[in-house]
Amino acid sequence: MSLVLETCEKGVAHLTLNRPEALNALNEELIKDIVEALERHDKNPSIGCIVLYGTERAFVAGADIKAMLPKNFVSFQEEEMFAFEINRIETIKTPIIAAVAGYALGGGCELAMACDMIIAANNAKFGQPEITLATIPGLGGSQRLTRAVGKAKAMDLILTGRHMDAQEAEKCGLVSRIVDHTELKSEAAKMAETIASHSRPAVRIAKKAVNVAMETTLAQGLSTEKDLFASTFALEDRKEGMTAFSEKRKPKWKNS
Ligand code: CAA
Repeated sequence: MSLVLETCEKGVAHLTLNRPEALNALNEELIKDIVEALERHDKNPSIGCIVLYGTERAFVAGADIKAMLPKNFVSFQEEEMFAFEINRIETIKTPIIAAVAGYALGGGCELAMACDMIIAANNAKFGQPEITLATIPGLGGSQRLTRAVGKAKAMDLILTGRHMDAQEAEKCGLVSRIVDHTELKSEAAKMAETIASHSRPAVRIAKKAVNVAMETTLAQGLSTEKDLFASTFALEDRKEGMTAFSEKRKPKWKNS
């Protein structure tokens, strides 16, 4: 049985991580189930946005420490652990929202950062506490956290191992918005339904354009944006969107 529960509604796939007895700690099985579900929904033309949830107590409390305990240098070199799997999330074209309540620590913070945006409940706690185990982030934390919040805050979190609350996470740009924990699911669904209501190919192009900014110089990014912007003029939806505006009516997307 999958460790990820799935429902689909109004063009949105809602994925709930379901290993509550270990605060959703990421073992190989859970990571595989997450990536498999994301890739499957990415291929489904009726899905325009995906939301990842944990429980109210924990989004994910980290990589599974008990499963990692017997590992050694050679086994990690050979297995590539699950960093490889997490990096597959980068290839998903559909926007992914991490809806975080409770702990998002270590691999949990890293999983949330591998998504496109994070919406946090007011009880959310983020951190990279690996240093307290005499190890370091292994699922992209030292790279994605530094890009998201800058060197000073990333060093602070990674070297002290402390937890950061939702307010601090929003202030430093890790989180796009904070909502009351009782409203996390409804707010994340609303946000996802808005994204899913837009032209699917236009949304995918917009996601690609933003992601390019994380990888290139400004000059290369601006040049890519120019090409991607021009490419939207090959979409039937672009013509429909501008026609509908001119005719003061709602657009009818063909998603082509
Ligand atoms: N791995 C395995 N099991 C975990 C876990 C983890 N990361 N986090 C929590 N659990 C388990 C606990 O062992 C406990 O199980 P038992 O009931 O069988 O003992 C259960 O989940 C509930 O946890 P606690 O009793 O500890 O709950 P708490 O409310 O007292 O504390 C917590 C919550 C502060 C999140 C605490 O569980 C904690 O500190 N967890 C570890 C956080 C951490 O260090 N994460 C980084 C992991 S390393 C990593 O992620 C490396 C990487 O980048 C690849």
